[in-house]
Amino acid sequence: MQITVYGATGTFGRRLVAHLRAREHSVIAAHRGIGVDTYAGEGVTEAAVDSEVLVDCVNYMTNNRHRALDFFSRSSRSIALAAAENPGAAMVCLSIAFRPEVAKSTLLGYYQAKDLQERVYRRLVPADQLLMFRSTQWFELVDTMTFNAGPMAFVPKMRVQALAADEAARMMAEAIDAEERGTIEVAGPEVSDFPTIARRIAVTNASADSAVSTGARKPRVPTIVPIPIPGPLSADGLIPDSPRLSAVTVEDWLRTR
Ligand SMILES: NC(=O)c1ccc[n+]([C@@H]2O[C@H](COP(=O)([O-])OP(=O)(O)OC[C@H]3O[C@@H](n4cnc5c(N)ncnc54)[C@H](OP(=O)(O)O)[C@@H]3O)[C@@H](O)[C@H]2O)c1
Repeated sequence: MQITVYGATGTFGRRLVAHLRAREHSVIAAHRGIGVDTYAGEGVTEAAVDSEVLVDCVNYMTNNRHRALDFFSRSSRSIALAAAENPGAAMVCLSIAFRPEVAKSTLLGYYQAKDLQERVYRRLVPADQLLMFRSTQWFELVDTMTFNAGPMAFVPKMRVQALAADEAARMMAEAIDAEERGTIEVAGPEVSDFPTIARRIAVTNASADSAVSTGARKPRVPTIVPIPIPGPLSADGLIPDSPRLSAVTVEDWLRTR
């Protein structure tokens, strides 16, 4: 199949492109560097010509509610319009697994924008052509969410069922191959929280460093300081009910990184 991946240079997108090509699909890897701007609506339709599947995995990371809503509504509309000009093409949207109470919290603008993105696709794409692929947080996100200060690392105490981004991409490629439609949720092997995962990453990294270190000073494990956060992210707001599971643990993922 020919498949257009919007956001093909991102954390998820570049892994998805690799999985799809390994399955012998022909991939149009779309991003701004080749003149495809989903926010401005430039080159979006052109990148979709002759593709049987369009995948939206673009991102704009911000906590500003208005900017997030503006980006995801405009970007999703321009990709959905490209799908409409390609009759019969399937549309796959990469979203996040979250419960309704998360999108209701006005403090969580990014999640409100992802909720809006889902609604745009459900409104503009026929249900029998749409796959809503909802992933839990990736191990890769822990680094992004960590604030390092000397020997300490501050990590928000979000309760998650995280998985490796590569596993989420593999599971999406399988679902695309199988021409699945509807909603799929994917998650990692265990429910945990970001500070616990950050600690496991720090301990594994330190023991790997000490194995190769020749000096007298042993690599130190930073003190992980959980940052309490109010609301549904510290409860079960990000834990899906019955997801497809990846078996890859944090330690497995660190070994293959
Ligand atoms: N992080 C997580 O744990 C997690 C979990 C579940 C779902 N998700 C979702 O996964 C999606 C992808 O996240 P990610 O972390 O892989 O993103 P990322 O690494 O930030 O990459 C963003 C991608 O979007 C492209 N992009 C940004 N603005 C664009 C524009 N105006 N026009 C065209 N392309 C644009 C970027 O390409 P260029 O900059 O090269 O144009 C890049 O390829 C997001 O929607 C996110 O909500 C994330």
